[in-house]
Amino acid sequence: MKACSRGVVTAVVALLALLSFRLSAVASGAVEEKAGAPAKEASPPPNAAALYADKCAICHGADGTPKPVFAQKGVPNMKAPEWQKARTDAQVRQSILEGKEGTMMSPYKEKLSAAEIDSLVTYIRSFAPAK
Ligand code: HEC
Repeated sequence: MKACSRGVVTAVVALLALLSFRLSAVASGAVEEKAGAPAKEASPPPNAAALYADKCAICHGADGTPKPVFAQKGVPNMKAPEWQKARTDAQVRQSILEGKEGTMMSPYKEKLSAAEIDSLVTYIRSFAPAK
């Protein structure tokens, strides 16, 4: 009986070790994939300009400057250098992912892929006038 339960313990330990090895392999694999991006991308890269025109321009304006009626509702002028400077890419991404509660800005994390949201962040950055 004693030997038997020791056997079980050994098996469980071995299993846990195997599992954590698998997990770390998966984790490092994920990191590699991110660094070397294209590997997983079977579909063509998202067209940020079309996406923005389709889903965002109505409120944010085609070039990042909202129409006055939307500006009055709190839509920021994303073409303004001051706005561009005041927001990090991470903040912009977060706003698109989670939206802004209590405003017309709804979350897009369930509507757009991570790659699409990343491409929108880059696209929004392109509104900034060249220095
Ligand atoms: C229905 C109107 C509407 C649509 C559509 C919309 N937004 Fe917004 N968005 C807003 C409003 C209003 C705010 C300001 C929220 C606030 O008061 O903080 C905002 C804020 C943001 C911000 C944060 C601005 C800041 O100052 O940090 C980003 C980034 C943004 N929107 C990106 C997008 C993108 C990208 C899309 C398309 C995928 C989109 N929005 C679609 C209305 C909209």
